[in-house]
Formats: sequence, structure tokens, C-alpha cells
Amino acid sequence: METTIEKAAGLLEEASALVNERLETLLPSATEEPTRLHEAIRHSVFAGGKRFRPALMIAVGKAFGSAADKLLSTAAALEMIHAYSLIHDDLPAMDDDSLRRGKPTCHVEFGEATAILAGDLLQTLAFKAIAEDATLPDAIKVKLISELAAAAGSPSGMVAGQQLDLDAEGSAGIIEEEELERIHLCKTGAMIRASARCGAIIAEAGDEESETVAEFASHLGLIFQITDDLLDVTETTETLGKTAGKDAEALKATYPSVFGVHEARNMAMSHYWRANEALERLSIPTTDLLELVEFIMMRDK
Ligand code: IPE
Ligand code: IPE
Ligand code: MG
Ligand code: MG
Ligand code: MG
Repeated sequence: METTIEKAAGLLEEASALVNERLETLLPSATEEPTRLHEAIRHSVFAGGKRFRPALMIAVGKAFGSAADKLLSTAAALEMIHAYSLIHDDLPAMDDDSLRRGKPTCHVEFGEATAILAGDLLQTLAFKAIAEDATLPDAIKVKLISELAAAAGSPSGMVAGQQLDLDAEGSAGIIEEEELERIHLCKTGAMIRASARCGAIIAEAGDEESETVAEFASHLGLIFQITDDLLDVTETTETLGKTAGKDAEALKATYPSVFGVHEARNMAMSHYWRANEALERLSIPTTDLLELVEFIMMRDK
């Protein structure tokens, strides 16, 4: 019999195939001028990656009854913003990483200036993809664009979280749990929460159910970054496809650096139970969502 993890891997694979096909049509071709820029975005977007945010969004949208084709451009947009965040996260001025998704990072391959522009371009292409999605009414598109802009930006989105993450470097011994949670909720949780909310928006889910799904996804977002922090300590560079041990080297404030590996695992587990508790309050089918959260708890990359 297929295990929960195998089922989740199947969901991710299915989402990857659909979203990769859509990304292929939405990104400028590598032969189009300026080719260096377009090669750079394609290098990063098509380097692999779990496609977790699109998979979550599609799972939520389908659970609320949306047709798959209405979900795909927004799923691709989420992945574009995510890929941009990774390109910029790896820059020398930020985490200074040379490996991503098992390949040289964008700035190593194409130079720093092009990597900055590649991130900028992916961000604009994401909003264009939603604005030009012919399967959705304008009112839904405005909600999606607003949701994504807030999740990617500041004061409570990804860019805010990245600033807080940099500000907290070296503070592992003094940072409060509440502040660490805030960093993780912003830098990673916001985009994961938005992924779930975008699925609910497209399916036109009711306010209460959308709120509960968002609550589920906030716990999932925290689990996601806590496990990311744990994997940085416990896994190898080869398995991760990105440099292991980077957080300790940069004196990042992470769950394992502040609370230790054992307690960080317990904290992830406590969010796992709270995520489950939120799912129990929903009236929609939640099997796929349960599989995705278990996958994130158990993942090794
Ligand atoms: C890595 O994200 C960065 C974080 C927000 C923790 P993922 O673990 O989703 O990376 P890919 O997309 O699979 O490469
Ligand atoms: C990054 O967190 C979160 C983003 C917004 C990209 P990390 O810096 O821990 O992500 P990795 O470990 O480099 O993928
Ligand atoms: Mg970082
Ligand atoms: Mg990083
Ligand atoms: Mg990390």
C-alpha cells in the first residue's frame, strides 16, 4: 500500500508537471533578447525544486471545488515569486550561497547584476501572469494580486521577513521565541499561507473556511521553516542541493540554534498538531492537505 509520504510525493509530482508546463508558456524564451536575463530566470526556475507552494495551492483550490485549469497561472506566479526570493536570498550581500537546487546559484552562473535583475523580472512576470489569466474574473484577479503582493512584501510578508532575518544574525543567544516566530512567519510562512489562500480565493470559498485554511497554512509555514532550519544542521549538501551548515556559519537565529535540535523538533510537532486541529474544523476533503503537512514534517530536503 502507498504510504502517506508516497502519496504526497505523487501530489508534488503532479503539481510539478502542470506548473512546469504553465511556467514554460509564461516565461520569455531563452532565445529572446535579452537572452542572458531570460537564460538566468530559466536556470533558476527549471533547476528542480519541490514545487510545494503550487502543490498546496492546487490541493486547496481542488478541495474547495475549483477546476484545475483556473489554478495554474496563479500556481506558476507563486513559484515565480518563490524562485525570485531564492535568487536574492543566495546573493553575496544576503546568504551568500553558491549552490541551489543542486546547481550553481544564479549569481554564480550569470553574475550578480543579472541575478538581481532575474529576481526583479520574476516578480513582475508573476503579477502579469495573474493579471492576464483569461480563466478568472477581474474581481478574483484583484484579490489574488493583493494577496500575493502582501505575502511577498512588507510589513508582514517575505521581504519583511528577509530583513528581520538579516537583522537577527548573531542574536541566537538573546532572541525571544516570539520574535523568531515572527521572522519565520514573515519570510516563509506568508508565501505558504498565501498559496493556500489563493486556492481558496479562486474556488470562491466562504470567509470562515478560508480563514481556517489560512490558519492551517500558517502552522504549515512555521513547520516548513523549522524543518528547513533543522535540515541545514542534520543533512548533507548533496542531499539538500544547497550548502548545509550555512546557518551556523552565518550565525543565523534559527529554531535549532536557539532551542537545540530536539526542542526544535518538538516545536515543529506542536505546530503539526495545531495544523491538524485546523483541518478537522473544515468541511472540505482534507486528505491531500494532511499528506502535504506530513511530507513537510518528514522531508529530508
Ligand atoms: C527553500 O524553499 C527556502 C525556504 C523558504 C525555506 P523550498 O524548500 O521550497 O525550496 P525548493 O523550491 O524546493 O528548492
Ligand atoms: C529563506 O530562508 C527564505 C526565503 C524567503 C527565500 P533560508 O535562507 O533559510 O532558505 P535557504 O535555506 O537558503 O533555502
Ligand atoms: Mg536566508
Ligand atoms: Mg538562505
Ligand atoms: Mg535555510
